[in-house]
Amino acid sequence: SKAKSWESRLDGGPDELAQLFVESLSYDRRLYKYDILGSVAHAQMLCRQGLITPDELSEIEGGLAEIQSEIESGSFEFNIVYEDIHMAIEAALVAKTGDSGRKLHTGRSRNDQIATDMRLWMREEIENIQELIRNLQRAFLELAGRYASDVMPAYTHLQRAQPVSIAAYLLSYIEQLERDFSRLADSKKRLNVLPLGSGAVAGSTLTLDRNSTCHKLGFDSISGNSIDAISDRDFCAEFIFDCSMIMTHLSRLAEDFILFMSTEYGFIKIADKYCTSSSMMPQKRNPDMLELIRGKVGSVHGALVAMLTILKAQPSSYNRDLQEDKLHIFKAADVVTACLRITEGIVSNTVFRADAILDGIDEGFLDATALAEYLVSKGVPFRSAHGIVGTIVADCEKAGKKLSDVSLARYQKYCESISEDIYNVLGAANVAAAYKTVGSGGVSQSIESIEYWRTRL
Ligand code: ARG
Repeated sequence: SKAKSWESRLDGGPDELAQLFVESLSYDRRLYKYDILGSVAHAQMLCRQGLITPDELSEIEGGLAEIQSEIESGSFEFNIVYEDIHMAIEAALVAKTGDSGRKLHTGRSRNDQIATDMRLWMREEIENIQELIRNLQRAFLELAGRYASDVMPAYTHLQRAQPVSIAAYLLSYIEQLERDFSRLADSKKRLNVLPLGSGAVAGSTLTLDRNSTCHKLGFDSISGNSIDAISDRDFCAEFIFDCSMIMTHLSRLAEDFILFMSTEYGFIKIADKYCTSSSMMPQKRNPDMLELIRGKVGSVHGALVAMLTILKAQPSSYNRDLQEDKLHIFKAADVVTACLRITEGIVSNTVFRADAILDGIDEGFLDATALAEYLVSKGVPFRSAHGIVGTIVADCEKAGKKLSDVSLARYQKYCESISEDIYNVLGAANVAAAYKTVGSGGVSQSIESIEYWRTRL
């Protein structure tokens, strides 16, 4: 007997190597739930349209339910002669229900079927990833709450720049993750369009009711052009880009934390359970999890390039090239899921060595910009103030002094408008308390942001 109906068209069975080469069952089987969901909705519509009888519908529904529980209990036999999850399930249904099962594929192609399955899968996957983003944001918020009034250096070009609240640094990741969250929400909106009913490429001569399937499956609308509907994978590229951006953000955090836990910085301690040691050097505490997060970005960025390359210059409509899309969306989703989870664990178990950071905070003239702004408050044009402070810093550097070590008499030689109150603005702690702008890295602004995020997260 024939495993597939198209064997009447083709001469003999496929070559064994070709069969292994063409199959996607080994990885698209994870779509089984969505495939069955789509099939049930399709069959119900066929019944409403009088294309199958209510008895046939209930046989189909019963058979698909049995298949689902067989898959979930591990007793279902996945045989790659059926190529993919669609044919595997349909063949099992036909084996159970005969002609009723043979009617399921009425007005349908695997082309609109897979496009539907993937959108159903992705919708749920996006929600899972969004949940993990929220958890990680909460971990950052919790940590930020502990260090709102502690100060650390902010860097530009990895050179000491200005003092900020440690919370401000941590809150910067909440903002990045918020954009990742809303980017996924945008993608979800765009992908929530039903291709089912587009058939292989041109729709069907049967009176299918696409709107009822759309409603049943929770899509916002139906696709407007069958040729586009079965070949559009924009949503896959977009989803992988969203994952790539998350991974890029996580990699920057990983890099920060790797630097911060080095002896050279000594800013943080991450928990031992997220470290490994060395097989040779007994003293080591290595940040291997963080390095792996940084390293795994490669496979997600790679998936994005792969997806775009699969699509590039394909002739319009469905081509089997598209089957490869799943490898890359699954890879991106799996890596981003694992990395968000482990990052949440690491962040929740990180301690900032606020006292050690404070000990070294007056290195590097973090208060120089605040000094220039002090001069502005005394009426000195900013560009002139910038030059004056540059001179003071250069002199201090030669003398091995901090800005707060310079005497008032000496300051007044640099600029007459300087008075005794200058010492209230110098020093990192004073600066961090003096920021006025909304969204600055100051202590009070960070406390406000923490309050804001507490109501949001
Ligand atoms: N496994 C296929 C895929 O993932 C399903 C669609 C196959 N369609 C076809 N005309 N060969 O794209």
